[in-house]
Amino acid sequence: MRAEQPRRHLLGVDDLTRDDAYRILDTARALERSLDREVKKLPTLRGRLVLNLFYESSTRTLSSFELAAKRLSADTMTLRASGSSVDKGESLRDTALTLAAYDPDVIVIRHPHIGAPHFVAAATQALVVNAGDGKHQHPTQALLDLFTIREALGRLEDVRVAIVGDVLHSRVARSLVEGLRLVGASPLVVAPPTLVPRGIEGMGCEVSHRIDAIGDADVVYVLRMQQERMAAAYVPSLREYTSLYGITPERVRPGQVVMHPGPMNRGVEIDPRVADSGASLITTQVRAGLVVRMAVLYDLLTAPGLHVAQPVLEVA
Ligand code: NCD
Repeated sequence: MRAEQPRRHLLGVDDLTRDDAYRILDTARALERSLDREVKKLPTLRGRLVLNLFYESSTRTLSSFELAAKRLSADTMTLRASGSSVDKGESLRDTALTLAAYDPDVIVIRHPHIGAPHFVAAATQALVVNAGDGKHQHPTQALLDLFTIREALGRLEDVRVAIVGDVLHSRVARSLVEGLRLVGASPLVVAPPTLVPRGIEGMGCEVSHRIDAIGDADVVYVLRMQQERMAAAYVPSLREYTSLYGITPERVRPGQVVMHPGPMNRGVEIDPRVADSGASLITTQVRAGLVVRMAVLYDLLTAPGLHVAQPVLEVA
């Protein structure tokens, strides 16, 4: 009998080594070629079950995980719950145990509480992917952002990325700072003092409160103002925030690219003229989300000796 191997999850960027990150990005690149074919489905994960458990609203993340699983021929099931009515304690445990009865291979979970994906990983036998837990982590977003940057600029090493806006409430920012550090890029956080988490410098990024600091960056990464997570007023008014930190055409220098994880508040953190300009990689990020999530599912389910004897990535 084969010795029990530790299950691998993707709960945060710190579950990844640099090699893991590059392997997933390379797999995503190979998978991207399959999107140009007339028949886009690959047989790779036939017979596997991917369960999406979403306790918070989502457009891009949920749709791309669903499609990613389908494109790899896995079965998928999606359960949505309204964030406000669910509390982390017993109900999540009960849901997880109920769903575990279907023997899912992977559970993809988004939840308003930090640590909910870790909880599900401990309560079930499935491999768990964190699709966003509170303001904590969103590792697949970081991977798709790294993929987008690498494809656009041709490298990750030493790329300077200015992350602008509501860093305090952003799991995207936390995961991206860690992801950029992992691959040797340089993150810079630009935000008003009230929207910068204490101690973020300790994660290896610079911090500036002045918008003109974005001038040195190769990538301007704009964050949404997360009003649903703001219990108090963190800025005097959205209008003032926009005038001081909004990304307008005048603030973007030629040669810079602009990213945003979506959903955008057009006219708040980003001017529509920037969002729709040639400098914007926002639609590219969405397409990257599909191939990177295919790569993550593939990577987790085909770990050597873990689940399948012969992983085959059948991309011509
Ligand atoms: C982000 C999220 O949910 O954390 N969206 C996403 O996954 N594309 C960012 C946000 O909500 O602002």
